Amino acid sequence: MITAKELRQKYIDFFKAKGHTPIPSASLMPENDPSVLFTTAGMHPLVPFLLGEKHPAGARLVNSQKCIRTGDIDEVGDKIHHTFFEMLGHWSLGDYFKEEAIKMSYEFLTNGLGLDKGRLAFTVFAGDDNAPVDEEAASVWRSLGIKKERIVYLPKADNWWEPSGSGGPCGPCTEMFYWSDKETSVPESFEPSDKRWVEIGNDVLMQYEKKGENNYILAHQKNIDNGTGLERNLAILNGFDDNYLIDLFWPIILKIEELSGKKYLIPVLSLEKRGGDEDDTPLSAVADTSPKLGEDVKRSMRIIADHLRAAVMIMGDDLGIAPSNVDQGYVVRKLIRRAIRHGRMIDIQENFTDKIAAVVIEIMGEAYPELERNRKFIMDNLVAEEEKFGKTLQEGLKVFHESIKTLKHESKNAVDGKSAFDLYQSYGFPLELTKELAKENGLEVDEVGFEEEFKKHQELSRTAAAGKFKGGLADHSEKVTAYHTATHLLNAALRQVLGEHVFQKGSNITEERLRFDFSHPEKMTAEQIKQVEDLVNEIIQKNVAVECAEMTAEEAKVRGAIGVFADKYGEKVKVYSVGGGDICFSKEICGGPHVERTGGMGHFRIIKEEASSAGVRRIKAVLE
Ligand code: SER
Repeated sequence: MITAKELRQKYIDFFKAKGHTPIPSASLMPENDPSVLFTTAGMHPLVPFLLGEKHPAGARLVNSQKCIRTGDIDEVGDKIHHTFFEMLGHWSLGDYFKEEAIKMSYEFLTNGLGLDKGRLAFTVFAGDDNAPVDEEAASVWRSLGIKKERIVYLPKADNWWEPSGSGGPCGPCTEMFYWSDKETSVPESFEPSDKRWVEIGNDVLMQYEKKGENNYILAHQKNIDNGTGLERNLAILNGFDDNYLIDLFWPIILKIEELSGKKYLIPVLSLEKRGGDEDDTPLSAVADTSPKLGEDVKRSMRIIADHLRAAVMIMGDDLGIAPSNVDQGYVVRKLIRRAIRHGRMIDIQENFTDKIAAVVIEIMGEAYPELERNRKFIMDNLVAEEEKFGKTLQEGLKVFHESIKTLKHESKNAVDGKSAFDLYQSYGFPLELTKELAKENGLEVDEVGFEEEFKKHQELSRTAAAGKFKGGLADHSEKVTAYHTATHLLNAALRQVLGEHVFQKGSNITEERLRFDFSHPEKMTAEQIKQVEDLVNEIIQKNVAVECAEMTAEEAKVRGAIGVFADKYGEKVKVYSVGGGDICFSKEICGGPHVERTGGMGHFRIIKEEASSAGVRRIKAVLE
C-alpha cells in the first residue's frame, strides 16, 4: 500500500530536488476572482504569477492544492469522480519550458513512481486556427523512447487548458496516460477513448494568454503548469479500479457501513490487494462475486463519502462557508442534503453527517490543519443543517411521490416548474435533488419553469445579487465608506468584549446599514451589545486617524493584523489601522476604502443581533 501522505511527500520531494519550492495550498474560496465559486486547479491562485508578477518563493513551485469542481457532481457515485480532490502540481514561472518539463514528468512517472514505461501513453495538441500543432512536444516524447503509436494528437476540446472564467494564462496540454487494466495485455496503440487508459498527469505548456472569446495572444512569459490528481494516482499505484478503496476514502466507507449496517461489496481482486503487505484488510468488506450485487448501495455510499468530504473541506477552510441559499453556501447545502437523502436510502435513519465529518477530519487534518481549527464550525453547521432538512425530507418525498403518481396518470414525462419550486421552497429540496429523484423515476424536470417560479418569488435575492461584489461593498459613497470603517471598529470591539474566537464570517454594506457575520456560539447579552456600541462610539468620538500600509501577509500577521490571510506566500496586502501607537484600536487586512479620520462617522447603534448559521451570529448596525 502507498498512502496519500506518502504520495504527497514523494511528489513534493521529487520536485524539491529539481529546485522547486513547496508552497501551501491556497484557500478553496478564490480571493481575487469573482468569476468562479471555488479554486478548481493548483494554477488558479497563481494566475498573477503566471502572468509575470514575481513570486517571492521563486520561479519553481510545487504543492498539493485543495480543489473543488462542481461540474462533475452528477457523475459522482461512480468509482472515479469526486467533488473535492487534491491536485499535486508544480510550476515553472518563466523558468524552464517544454523540453525540460516533459523530461521531468517522464522521470517522475518512471523513476519517481516506478511505473512501467510500457504502460504509458501521451497526448499532444493537434493544432487549430489559434495555435499550431505541437510537434515539439511530440518529438520530446519520441526522444525519450516513446513509440509513435503511443502519442496521439488531440484537438482543443481535449488537449488545451485554460482556467474557467473569462480567460488568463493558457496553452496546449500534453497529457500522460496509464494502462490500468491488469487483466489484459497493454494494446500497442493508444486509444484515448478507451477508459482503461487513465489520465495520470497533465503538463500545460502555457505560451498563450486568453483575452476573451476566441482571442489568444502569445504570452510574454512562458510557464509550465503541471497537475497530477492525487486520488486517481493513488488508486493506480495501489492497483485499485475504485478510488474509494484508497486510504483517503476507505475509513469513511467503513463508517458508513457501520452506520447503515450494509456492506460495501468489493471485488475479490481488490480485496486481496487491500490485504497487500499490510494488515489493513477491511474486515467488514465482503468479496463480491457478482459485480451487479449492491451497486445502488455502493453508489449511495460513494455519494455520501464524496459529498460530506467536500462539504467538510469547504466549511473547514479558513474562509469557511456555511450552508445557505446563495453561491458557495448553496453548493454546501446541496452536497449535505444529497448525502442525507442517500443516507436514508441505505437505511441510516439517525443523524449521521457529523459522525462522517469526524472521520474526514481525522484523515485530512494532518495535511490541512485548518480543519481542526474549524472543527466546531463544521460540526455545528452539519448538525443544524441535518436537523433542518431531516424534518422536511420525509414530508417532501411524500409530496414528490404523490405528484409523480399524478404525472404518470396524465402520461406526462416532466415534473413541472411549480412543483419543483414548491419542493425547494417548502421542503428545502435543491433543484438537483428533485432532478435526481425525477431521473430515478424516468422523468425530467422543467428547469426553465423552475427558474421562472424562482424569479417570481426571489425578488429579494435578485437585489442582493445585484448589490454584491468583492468585499461586500455596494459602492464607494461617503456613507458606505463610513460603514466600512465602522465594520472594522465593530470587529475589533467584538473581539475585545466577546473574545478572540470572533472572526469575520461575512460582511455586507449598503447606504442604510452594515451587516456583519462573525463566529460566536451564543446570543449576545444586552450588556455585551451596549459595551460594543460604547467602544465603537468612543473611537469615533476620539476622531483618530485611519492609516494604510502595504506589507506582505506574513508581516501583517506578525504585526497582529486580523483579517483574511491569503495563503499566498509573500503576497502584498493592505493593512488599515485605526488610531496609531498605543491607542491603535483596530488593525485589519483589507482592500479599503476607509474614512481618513473617524470623527465624522456619526453615532453607531446595533439594531439587531441574531443567529446567521450554526456558530455564526449576525449584527445589523447603523450610523446615525
Ligand atoms: N491546470 C491543469 C489542470 O487542471 C494542470 O494543472 O489539469
